[in-house]
Amino acid sequence: MDDENIKDLDYFVDIQPKKKIEFYEAVLEGLSLPQKTISPKFFYDERGSKIFDKICDTPEYYLTRTEIALLNDIQEELYSLVEPGSAVVEYGCGSSIKIKALLSALPEPSHYIAIDISKSHLILTAKEIASNYNNISVAAICADFMEPIEWPEKASFESLKRLAFFPGSTIGNLRPSEASQFLKYVRHLVGDEGTFLIGVDMKKDAEVFNRAYNDAEGHTADFNLNLLHRMKNELDADINISEFSHKAFYNEKLGRVEMHLISDIKQVIEIDNKEFPFEKGESIHTECSYKYSVKEFSELAKKSGFSVLKNWSDKRNFFGIYLMKAI
Ligand code: AVJ
Repeated sequence: MDDENIKDLDYFVDIQPKKKIEFYEAVLEGLSLPQKTISPKFFYDERGSKIFDKICDTPEYYLTRTEIALLNDIQEELYSLVEPGSAVVEYGCGSSIKIKALLSALPEPSHYIAIDISKSHLILTAKEIASNYNNISVAAICADFMEPIEWPEKASFESLKRLAFFPGSTIGNLRPSEASQFLKYVRHLVGDEGTFLIGVDMKKDAEVFNRAYNDAEGHTADFNLNLLHRMKNELDADINISEFSHKAFYNEKLGRVEMHLISDIKQVIEIDNKEFPFEKGESIHTECSYKYSVKEFSELAKKSGFSVLKNWSDKRNFFGIYLMKAI
């Protein structure tokens, strides 16, 4: 990243692993498992991020628009509940609409620190915030926040009240035990006086999920299949993309939506002279999206160092926002 690009920011720290090697290793390892698996974090290359934006605009995918409406509805309450002068740390800066709704609600926030795995997205969001909020000092850290982050020296804000922000129900991509671990990392980062505002999709009728993850325009299918495009383009995989199809369903027993790529025929994917055979109907598991009732999420928070100060949801009880404090 050249200086010209980051001149509006306080600092930019890159602690992201080498992307290409990471994807290559994850694919080789994941396709060798009995249940073939690739992590959903690999959905978000440039093309994947654009497809995700299209998903958010479909009538079936209620998550994003419900959360934004809810954030706007609770602005006044947030004003009185959050300490003046707080430093806001955003985990994964997907949409600047949400962070703007938050920063505009809070009493004189002092810092905004964005963390994201996608460098271009990160810089764009951070710069946009820097130019919109003159009184907030803005910084960016490029990292995979699902792994413990060694906080750079410059990013110590010891004397400030810290508010972590994690919208979008991205925590749903983690298994409950990993989600608990992640909450503990956040708890460590925000410190004893810290708070955490998080958006989490709620348990509901399977039908609503099955529609939301199988939109009629097929954007979710494109999003899922994008993993195969990445394998072809970046890893030079020999792979017949048209012989795979998208599958998504709510697994009621485990309380999660699952996405898979199903092999329509018996076939082989070849990468770097290594062969990965598929039976007809065999799948690559590409995503889990866990859903939580208020009770379940509050319990998860409690055993991970947070207690819920207040929670909100929309009229239909589709999506939840929780303001929590460190315990
Ligand atoms: C960004 C992880 C919240 O789980 O709903 C959208 C990703 N997957 N459609 C979700 C996603 C399929 C999304 N999260």
